[in-house]
Amino acid sequence: MNMKYLYMETYGCQMNVSDSERIANMLSAIGYKQDPSPKQADLILLNTCSVRGGAEDKVYKRLENLRVLKKTNKNLVIGVGGCVAQHEGDHMLEKFPWVDLVFGTHNLHLLADMVAAAESGQRRSETDFIDSVQRLDLFPGIQDSSRVSCFVTVMQGCDNYCSYCIVPYVRGPEISRRSNEILAEINKLADIGVKEVVLLGQNVNSYGLNAPEQPSFVELLARIAGIDGISRIRFTTSHPKDMSDDLIDCFRTMPKLCGHIQLPAQSGSNAILERMNRGYTREMYLNRIKALKSARPGIVVTGDMIVGFPGETEEDFEQTLSLIEEVRYADLYSFAYSPRPGTKAAELPEALNREQKQERLERLLQVQRRITLEINTSFAGSVQTVLVEGMGKRQGQVSGRADSGKTVNFIGNPGLIGRLVDVRIVTAYQNSLVGELI
Ligand code: SAH
Ligand code: SF4
Ligand code: F3S
Repeated sequence: MNMKYLYMETYGCQMNVSDSERIANMLSAIGYKQDPSPKQADLILLNTCSVRGGAEDKVYKRLENLRVLKKTNKNLVIGVGGCVAQHEGDHMLEKFPWVDLVFGTHNLHLLADMVAAAESGQRRSETDFIDSVQRLDLFPGIQDSSRVSCFVTVMQGCDNYCSYCIVPYVRGPEISRRSNEILAEINKLADIGVKEVVLLGQNVNSYGLNAPEQPSFVELLARIAGIDGISRIRFTTSHPKDMSDDLIDCFRTMPKLCGHIQLPAQSGSNAILERMNRGYTREMYLNRIKALKSARPGIVVTGDMIVGFPGETEEDFEQTLSLIEEVRYADLYSFAYSPRPGTKAAELPEALNREQKQERLERLLQVQRRITLEINTSFAGSVQTVLVEGMGKRQGQVSGRADSGKTVNFIGNPGLIGRLVDVRIVTAYQNSLVGELI
């Protein structure tokens, strides 16, 4: 087989990151080697995100740039997948005559065939939703013995229809993967030496709620925790409304479950939460945070926040700032509201212009940066158990993550990769910690 080069860009959430890993794995079977540069690529894939207008615009700009590469390499195949591809469907082929293939979020298993066809000049678009649980296993997870930590998809899609959000339209309805398939995949990962699994889903903690034949999410966690060789379990992203007492209790009883929870609030104002259709109040959210902190003292909480939702007043915004102070997020992914076509909120009049939303976002980021640094600084002097994942950015350093999910760099040899070691934290930065091996 002739060696061919794949260049891939990934936008958006961890589900897309995971999909891209699996795409690379799948295409390696038909002779594609992934390359960090597009220059010598035979195949270029963009795995796209449409969650905000900005994310989508980036894809269109990038496609314009890539057009010229086709002039110098007539055989170059360009493909677009992910959420923008899902949303645009066949239009994409019309709009961008230099794009050869378009694959939706339910059609990844067809990609190897589509690429092979494109190599002989056949342009194709596959963006139909597939309403079957079997679909989730047609596109297998990666089995890579060089990895310390692996993503494992446990559910996909979303039925929540938050009024601002495009995800239910581009990922389809919520579907839980069969637990025997999940457990088989993780058992194999454990056998090849993977130490940590990160369970993925758009609403991961809603696992099993609409699949009565499957175990509950808590039961699934217990079965995964029973697998020898897996020493750490993480899951993301959780929805506050499905953060049950039983699940919170796992942080008390399950030592393999890491002390980190990503629990997006989106706003601190009840009026806005209601209009967002989030299904909880500020008080309910804070109650879940309190229970989590009591189940696992020191648990690190991260979240997502939207500023400038239609009708958000200065008072509403201050409620968001006060929620941030109360929760004390270790990190917050915060965004200026972006109207998405087809969503309910897109019909609401926007009171704030782009600059005003940006100004609120800046105020929020200022508060969050201070809290993040305070929390990071509070780790100084402590001893953290770090799972070493790879080499650090600085020479002689290795890098891994503490139980809290914080990145820790320290001087150490590559033989430590894959091991759990105790590290004393010496210096705290905004985005990482530096320590020394004990
Ligand atoms: N399922 C996850 C998040 C999915 S989208 C959840 O429910 O929390 C990732 C994040 O993008 C969201 O948490 C939200 O903060 C942000 N987001 C989604 N739609 C947005 C929009 N229209 N404008 C701005 N931010 C948005
Ligand atoms: Fe979007 Fe809401 Fe579903 Fe999250 S829960 S993916 S924010 S609709
Ligand atoms: Fe973006 Fe799709 Fe994820 S819209 S955030 S890549 S589910």
